[in-house]
Amino acid sequence: MKKVIATAVLGLAISVTGAMAVDGGALFKSKGCAACHQANVDTVGPSLKKIAQAYKGKEAELIKFLKGEAKPIVDPAKFGIMKPQLNATKNMSDEELKAMAEFMMKH
Ligand code: HEC
Repeated sequence: MKKVIATAVLGLAISVTGAMAVDGGALFKSKGCAACHQANVDTVGPSLKKIAQAYKGKEAELIKFLKGEAKPIVDPAKFGIMKPQLNATKNMSDEELKAMAEFMMKH
């Protein structure tokens, strides 16, 4: 019995550490976002700085956009290029989206 409890506690500890380890910056790179979004200069897509300015105090809106539930506010004329990218973010967990939004907002 003791062993069972120890295993359960250990499992919990691992999942908590796992949750804290979600790295928004790493996700941003691994999902290919960095190909079009640089930190400070506009390339194919607007810079992260510009995105962070547009969404200042509206992180929840940014998450909604990544879920495909909100309209673009940064450069709507170019949304046609961004739209297919939402296929990569739409099904990400809330936790992952939050980490990625926080990463973007830091710029
Ligand atoms: C092929 C190039 C390309 C890739 C890859 C790309 N984006 Fe974009 N992104 C754009 C363009 C162009 C815009 C400007 C249109 C717009 O504002 O929606 C944009 C806009 C945005 C915006 C601002 C939305 C708004 O309100 O206007 C966010 C946030 C964003 N991208 C996040 C991401 C994330 C996260 C990824 C990775 C999953 C990603 N982008 C991958 C080109 C890209």
